[in-house]
Amino acid sequence: MEAATGGVVILGRGGHARVLAECFAVGYSMLDKGEDVPADVSLILGMEDLHTRLRLVKEYGYDRFVDAIHGTAWISRSARWGRAPQIMVGTIIQTGARLGDFVIVNTGAQIDHDCVIGDFAFIGPGAVILGEAVVEKEAFIGGNATVLPKRIIGRGAIVGAGAVVTKDVAPGVTVMGNPAGPRCVTWIDTGYDEKMGNETR
Ligand SMILES: CC(C)(COP(=O)(O)OP(=O)(O)OC[C@H]1O[C@@H](n2cnc3c(N)ncnc32)[C@H](O)[C@@H]1OP(=O)(O)O)[C@@H](O)C(=O)NCCC(=O)NCCS
Repeated sequence: MEAATGGVVILGRGGHARVLAECFAVGYSMLDKGEDVPADVSLILGMEDLHTRLRLVKEYGYDRFVDAIHGTAWISRSARWGRAPQIMVGTIIQTGARLGDFVIVNTGAQIDHDCVIGDFAFIGPGAVILGEAVVEKEAFIGGNATVLPKRIIGRGAIVGAGAVVTKDVAPGVTVMGNPAGPRCVTWIDTGYDEKMGNETR
């Protein structure tokens, strides 16, 4: 998508904004929170946080945002994407992959053949999404995580850094580890209270 006449501004000044500014170089400027955004500029979301990204897109409108696709990314001719993707340095988007709107594929991540990545999904640095896997909208895949082929990561789910996902992940659930399991507090009934005659609280 073409940038507006006033150039391109990155919203934010945090780590992700600074990475974007350096990778996509000259002419980009970054805005602090609360600073006025001139009407004639195109925008790039400079943060990873899902809720801030959703809010800003709602506030400024879908049409204000432009693609940020780095020249070192390898992208199959048959891959497709929606509005304003961020496809960072050294990424690989393989044959038949489909990306929704506002997807971030961070540094060195790989989206293998025929994967489907939903709107606002975040794929962390070095993560590998293997063939035909589905990452539903708003899901977050941590750095260096691996999602095995054909697995489904549900909407808004979080996959911890370095996790290896061997089973589908339900919407909204956080998983971590290898093999990745849901985060939970395990309570083991030792029968201690009963033996000691304690009342259950
Ligand atoms: C999974 C994750 C979201 C959990 O975050 P959190 O809720 O703040 O978790 P905490 O840091 O409080 O850790 C809770 C416990 O899980 C463990 N843990 C955290 N992340 C883990 C991970 N990725 N793999 C294995 N264990 C992990 C911690 O060691 C801690 O264990 P403890 O209770 O025995 O001490 C986060 O740790 C993570 O991996 N985020 C991805 C970050 C990333 O890749 N960002 C990309 C930036 S570009």
